[in-house]
Amino acid sequence: MSKPFSQACENNKAPILAVLRDAFEQASNVLEIGSGTGQHAVHFAAGLPHLHWQTSDVAEHHQGINAWLSELSLPNLAGPIALRIGEDAFPQNGYDAVYSANTAHIMHTHEVQLMMAGIANLLPAGGVFCQYGPFIYQNAFSSASNEAFHFSLLERGLGGYKSIEQLTDWAGPSLQLTDIIDMPANNLCLIWRKQD
Ligand SMILES: C[S@@+](CC[C@H](N)C(=O)[O-])C[C@H]1O[C@@H](n2cnc3c(N)ncnc32)[C@H](O)[C@@H]1O
Repeated sequence: MSKPFSQACENNKAPILAVLRDAFEQASNVLEIGSGTGQHAVHFAAGLPHLHWQTSDVAEHHQGINAWLSELSLPNLAGPIALRIGEDAFPQNGYDAVYSANTAHIMHTHEVQLMMAGIANLLPAGGVFCQYGPFIYQNAFSSASNEAFHFSLLERGLGGYKSIEQLTDWAGPSLQLTDIIDMPANNLCLIWRKQD
């Protein structure tokens, strides 16, 4: 099968990897939520060989993710498990880090609530969650194109952008937002850390 391809992933994978090198320096076992094409997973697992990287997504993406994974056969990269937040329980496999890119504005509000609370519950003290994407911050979109995209998502029946303030609320007191990192194309990396 031909592999699915995202130009955005090609553009953002290097700057995200630079963030993960620091954020996941002490981590060993990562769960990725919403792996999409699988491009991020192969790039990050290759660039961060000290990590075990577990892909996941809804079932219709698995064939494409497997197509990317089978080309490289990286020893630290695992084929996708079925995880649809809101339907499936979080896998329990000793994860000490979670990564998710461009999922919060696709998911519906109740799914993102469950994702944030679920990650807070999943991670051990010191665990890290790196969340990449476009967000609303201090009541503002980061660009006019982001605002337009938000409304186009709503028209298509998708969840739309979430605010950092909402995410913080849903994460609860045990999962603290410790860094907000500016990324290219008006995106952000949010670094969340589970407290002792
Ligand atoms: C815009 S894509 C992002 C894919 C990839 N992470 C990237 O950055 O290119 C959104 C992803 O979220 C996944 N997704 C949507 N709703 C989900 C849910 N309820 N639970 C888990 N994944 C979900 C989709 O299947 C899709 O892979």
